[in-house]
Amino acid sequence: MKTILDTMWSFVPARCLQVAARIGLFDHLRVDKELDTKVLASELGTNADALHRLLCVLACSGIVELTDIGWKFSASGFKYLSAGSSNSLLAFVERSAALVAAYDNLEEVLKSGSPDREMLELTQQCFGGKEAETQVFAKSMEAMSSVLAAEMVESVDLTEYSDCLDIGSGWGVFGRTMIRRWPGLSVTLFDLPHVIQGAKERCEKLPFGEQIHYMRGDWRDQLPDAEFDVVLLSQVLHEEPKEAACRLLTQGCERVRRGGIVIVVEFFLSSSKTDPLLSTIFHLNMLVEIGGATWSTEETESFLHDKGFEVIEVFPLSGGRTVVVGRRL
Ligand SMILES: C[S@@+](CC[C@H](N)C(=O)[O-])C[C@H]1O[C@@H](n2cnc3c(N)ncnc32)[C@H](O)[C@@H]1O
Repeated sequence: MKTILDTMWSFVPARCLQVAARIGLFDHLRVDKELDTKVLASELGTNADALHRLLCVLACSGIVELTDIGWKFSASGFKYLSAGSSNSLLAFVERSAALVAAYDNLEEVLKSGSPDREMLELTQQCFGGKEAETQVFAKSMEAMSSVLAAEMVESVDLTEYSDCLDIGSGWGVFGRTMIRRWPGLSVTLFDLPHVIQGAKERCEKLPFGEQIHYMRGDWRDQLPDAEFDVVLLSQVLHEEPKEAACRLLTQGCERVRRGGIVIVVEFFLSSSKTDPLLSTIFHLNMLVEIGGATWSTEETESFLHDKGFEVIEVFPLSGGRTVVVGRRL
């Protein structure tokens, strides 16, 4: 019964997180100083008892902590939800609130097998449709992916490689992290025009800025017509339905020189494609948001094998992502 009740009530912590962000709770909380509930409630203009109850839910989610003195951020709450943090997920939390409306229409999605119309429009705005939305999405991805990129460079060895194509690069956080780790590497960032503009603003003035190159484009039209030692597809395949994602992965593989590698970072499903929970949620969510999908690690391995690659590494990253690395034979 507990798992059923947990599932039934799981919208409550999500709503608490979204409302806490909206009322500015995370702008007031500190990690190094506790705040009394009454003080917090008066700063936020809320009822103290109601706020206390909401904070208790957030404490069970590991976001805040209560001591004898009052409330403070937990270490991970501070890292991912404080406004000034370079890893802040606040923009994603805001976006998740917009998704709730799309899930009110889940029955329609189930009947049609197509994304929620309004959500699709919103997602397309994030992918070049509207500059402001595109910038907010790219910033959110940068915050989240800086953690993933830092983990990835600890497990992949690019010492022998000199250039990399990052397909759907966002603002280039993977590229920057890889160059910091391997100073001999140059990286070409490929993304939609508005996104590449943001990447340029971020990367051009860095000490290694000359090692970063930029290409504006739509992967549905054409990818750069060149070969690279390394081709990275981080969190991009799921944006497309499976057939189109396979085309994109094929085109990515074709741009890898012999002896070079393709790196795929994704929210993969298990071999049964029925778990883990976060990936199944993601798989459904890609349908609701944009008509995309995710697949299993094994399918990716077998796909790479068919394209003439040997899978040399598979390892997990934070937040449920997996990295698959294949070397072109
Ligand atoms: C989920 S983000 C991943 C960003 C980055 N690779 C990372 O892991 O942080 C997907 C990226 O794909 C880009 N994108 C979406 N559709 C695209 C298209 N048709 N052509 C080129 N880039 C696209 C988006 O602008 C966005 O930067």
